Amino acid sequence: MHALASACPPLEPNTCYAYLLLCTHFAPSCLLAEDADGPLGYIAGYRIPERPDTLFVWQIGVHARGRGQGLGKRMLHALLAQPANADARFLETTVAPDNEPSQRLFRSFAKALGAACEESDFFEPSHFGGASHEAERLFRIGPFAG
Ligand SMILES: CC(C)(COP(=O)(O)OP(=O)(O)OC[C@H]1O[C@@H](n2cnc3c(N)ncnc32)[C@H](O)[C@@H]1OP(=O)(O)O)[C@@H](O)C(=O)NCCC(=O)NCCS
Repeated sequence: MHALASACPPLEPNTCYAYLLLCTHFAPSCLLAEDADGPLGYIAGYRIPERPDTLFVWQIGVHARGRGQGLGKRMLHALLAQPANADARFLETTVAPDNEPSQRLFRSFAKALGAACEESDFFEPSHFGGASHEAERLFRIGPFAG
């Protein structure tokens, strides 16, 4: 996951330790897709503690060699199909305003579920301190049946 994140700008790679924690403590909301050449895509996420019916997708990435073939969408469907996520009713994520592929992915996923996709302001550039960082808009998809 760390290697994929590093290879998938504009994703910001977290530490290896952070991915290990996610995949250990939040395993049902994480996923790795592989092909014969190795890791191809991943999702790292968690259930929002105060709203456990909501699955938050922290990061989704597909290696350049696997893009445009429906893998991103398949991974999102696969995540919801996990037995541990049968009770999830909403999926949330944040997307930068200029990340067209990601916006299209989540809108298309919502459409496939027959669910609404509400988009609203969330983190502003000023929330990132001194670092130059784009805004992150909130996408909330649902409700959907588990
Ligand atoms: C965003 C990302 C995960 C999409 O993965 P993908 O496997 O290529 O996406 P899919 O093939 O499943 O496409 C899903 C939908 O989005 C659309 N889409 C995906 N990439 C697109 C692009 N570059 N331009 C236009 N549409 C695009 C597809 O046409 C498809 O729409 P459809 O279902 O109506 O046909 C991938 O581009 C990526 O890893 N980007 C870099 C990391 C990143 O930005 N992650 C998201 C951070 S929020």
